[in-house]
This record gives sequence, C-alpha cells and structure tokens, in this order.
Amino acid sequence: MSDPCLRDYQRIVFFTGAGMSAESGVPTYRGAGGIWKEYDYRRYACQSAFDRDPAAVWEFHNFRRGLVMRCDPNPGHQLIVRAEQQLPQVTIVTQNIDGLHARAGSHKIHELHGNLWRVRCDHCGVKQQDGPVQREQLRCPTCDGWWRPDIVWFEDYLDDAVVQAATAAIAGCDLFVSIGTSAVVYPAAYLPQHAADNGALCVEINPDPTPASELYSVHLRGPATAMLARLAAGVPELLG
Ligand code: OAD
Repeated sequence: MSDPCLRDYQRIVFFTGAGMSAESGVPTYRGAGGIWKEYDYRRYACQSAFDRDPAAVWEFHNFRRGLVMRCDPNPGHQLIVRAEQQLPQVTIVTQNIDGLHARAGSHKIHELHGNLWRVRCDHCGVKQQDGPVQREQLRCPTCDGWWRPDIVWFEDYLDDAVVQAATAAIAGCDLFVSIGTSAVVYPAAYLPQHAADNGALCVEINPDPTPASELYSVHLRGPATAMLARLAAGVPELLG
C-alpha cells in the first residue's frame, strides 16, 4: 500500500507517546536510556512512594521538569500544529506529560497522563498550573496538604473526562496515527482499538514493531519527524 496522505482525511487523531518527543531530546521510558531503566518507579512514581517521601518524589519531578525545560518542540510537533490549522479536524491524544504539543502551538490536546507543570493538592484536590519552573512551595496554602504533580502515576486512575473525550475523538476519526508508543501501558493502550473498530485507517509510526502492530494496516518504521513528513508529502503547506 502506498503511503496515505494527511490531506485525504477529514478527522485525524494523532495518538502520541514518548517517541514523539525523543527527537526533542526528552528521554523515553523504556529501551536504551529510558527513564524507568534508571529510576525505579516504585520510589518515584506512585502514590505510596509519595506518601512515604514526598520530598524525594518532588526532587525526581523537578529533575524531569529540568530535562524537559531544556528541550524544544521538534519539527514533528510543528507539523501537527500546521495540520490542526489547515485540515478540517485534528485532535491529539497524548500519553506525554511534557507539554511539548501545547508549547509547539497545538490546541486540541487530550493529555491522558496529566501534565508535568500542573499540581494538585493531595488533601483538598485543588489544582494549579506552574510556569516553567522548579516547584519549591510543596504545601497547599489553603489546607497545608502536599502538592503532588497532577500526573497519572502507576496505580493511579486516569481522569474520566479526559478518557471520554479521547475515546470520542478516536471512535469518530477516519485516520488514526499512533506515534512513538510502546503500546504496553494500559488503559491508554486499549484506545487505538476504537479507531480500528470504527473503520479508521490506522497508521503506526515507530522505528520498531510493538505488541499492537497487528492492529495497524500501515507501518512507518522510522523516527517521528521523518515519518510524519512522509504522511504530509504532497502538501507543502504542512511541511513548513
Ligand atoms: P515508551 O518509552 O514505553 O515507548 C517509546 C516508544 O517510542 C518505543 O516504542 C520506541 O521504539 C519509540 N521511539 C523511540 N524513538 C522514536 C522516534 N524518534 N520516533 C518515533 N518513535 C520512537 O513510551 P510510551 O509508550 O509513551 O506513563 O510509555 C507509555 C507510558 O509509560 C508513559 O506515558 C508513562 C510511562 O510509564 C506515565 O508516566 C503514567
């Protein structure tokens, strides 16, 4: 099958994972140099770790903020911004917490796993957005509870409203493009099935096969930026 072209579709969903930001310099989670190879999530990315030692968990998340702050959106993020501006309906469903889609200028983004720069009080539940800074104030001024990163840690539940919005977009799309996810983290990894069930053309962008590869009828084996450019071939205004 020849490469599909983004211009030929009316309702496109980009479903992104850590590989989307890899060319920006943000480490992925698994594979060589992956975050979970170096840091044990049981010490840094679950509620029980936070209950035991919130300061250590914050040190890890401030470190991750620092990593992402040094990175910029890459040409793949920017191509998706232009697609949103110039094609009928483009939605991003992302597992990434790095905020790079928004920094690039995309607007319709469902962040399944939260955002590294949003915090929520562990006690009263109030949320707050931080600028691109390290968080130093760790206690909620209203109730003195601990601020925790408003991201989905291991064993946390996803936000229902976000999952519903993402599912609706995916179930209604005619082109579904998965980019840079290992497809092993659930429930996010269930979502692409909705696109396939509803007859969307499903494209997987990833240098390597994944456990979900069979779901996809088109496999673009290579880095996100170059493979997105292939999908935009013939549409110079998307290539920038
Ligand atoms: P992973 O680190 O599990 O997988 C990254 C995927 O990106 C792999 O399949 C790589 O082959 C691929 N990849 C690497 N470089 C790429 C590139 N330049 N272009 C395209 N693909 C590339 O990341 P996720 O699947 O996003 O959850 O991980 C899912 C969730 O697991 C994350 O959201 C995070 C983590 O635990 C939470 O923090 C809740």
